[in-house]
Amino acid sequence: MGRTVPEQPDHGWPLEEGLSRLSELYGLRVLTIRAFEDALKRFHHRYFQGNETVLEIGSGAGFLKEHWPNFSERWVHSDAQPGFLAHTREKLGAGSYVAGSVYQLPFTDDSFDAVGGCGVFDVFRDLETACREAYRVLRPGGLFFSITDLGVDYEAVADEFAQQRIPLRMRRKTKVPSFFSRDVEKIQIDYLPEEHLDAFLESVGMTREEMDACPQITSDFAFDTFAKKQGFSGRAHCFEHFDKLIPDYMELFTRYAIPLDTNAYFTEKLRKTLARSFGEHAVHLEKMQGYYQGKRTPEQEKQEVRAFVYENQGDRVQPSGCYLPWIIEYELYRLTHQRFPNFAKRIEPPVAEVVNLDVVVARKQ
Ligand SMILES: C[S@@+](CC[C@H](N)C(=O)[O-])C[C@H]1O[C@@H](n2cnc3c(N)ncnc32)[C@H](O)[C@@H]1O
Repeated sequence: MGRTVPEQPDHGWPLEEGLSRLSELYGLRVLTIRAFEDALKRFHHRYFQGNETVLEIGSGAGFLKEHWPNFSERWVHSDAQPGFLAHTREKLGAGSYVAGSVYQLPFTDDSFDAVGGCGVFDVFRDLETACREAYRVLRPGGLFFSITDLGVDYEAVADEFAQQRIPLRMRRKTKVPSFFSRDVEKIQIDYLPEEHLDAFLESVGMTREEMDACPQITSDFAFDTFAKKQGFSGRAHCFEHFDKLIPDYMELFTRYAIPLDTNAYFTEKLRKTLARSFGEHAVHLEKMQGYYQGKRTPEQEKQEVRAFVYENQGDRVQPSGCYLPWIIEYELYRLTHQRFPNFAKRIEPPVAEVVNLDVVVARKQ
């Protein structure tokens, strides 16, 4: 059976500056770290005994193992970046560290009781081969798992849509209505589904043939045509009216576009891909929530307390983050802290951490 090994690294991984990119992820995870451990503990009890051999794919800087205390030496870290593995070995010690691409896992068939990864399958451009390889190295009866904590890599999703020539628009949205009142920010992604495309093209004055002739399909692929329809001879000509024309164009785009929930999109894609190796009934999706309430960790003290939205590009707002249920008490603590830091420590109210995980599991028959 021929295997494809893409020449390009997967969606910017591995990068030379990869470690700093990984530490950015750590910075975000600081806010939900104990909630993550809470969810992981329940995941462990549901699916594991603790004596399994586990292969982690794309282990990066070792985040998953660091917070999953079981398995000791029976955990095998693997990653395409040997530098990440060296860094992780220095930090965690126990276990094995094996460099290699997910497209050609350097293990014999039926080697592991469990194979999986965290925040990783969404970066693989050839998901089919990645899943087939995971299936191959898993023993019969073994468990595949994929955990998504920070939300999927929306740039990878945007690339995929661009390749399929589906018009897509990405924008940063703040103040998403939710009971977390302040500083909630998320990336909103809208795309033009096939069934709305003709209506959109008609509204901007473009034909399918003209669209097919566009070398690249971006969110403003039809803007020049739209500007011409408004009586402008091209971008240069409409320059001074640009500020007005762009919102008009974008309004039409938004009218025919629908929001894309990137997590749901990816989870379904992973489910379908796994089903081809594992079988339709062997794959399950679940949402897991982790919760923790207590004093802030030293790392959390360095960050402003606020709510973050990592997931859900659709209407639903499902925040993961670290927030304060008692705003008034916290304001009091803040005021006191300026003059009497030691006393303030004693009246500091607890924060709540919430994490929402998308989990996909599959059992090899
Ligand atoms: C988003 S990071 C996730 C790292 C880690 N699992 C975490 O949760 O912090 C993606 C990881 O996949 C690795 N990776 C990218 N392409 C790969 C490939 N083709 N084979 C194996 N690992 C790969 C990268 O080196 C990186 O460590």
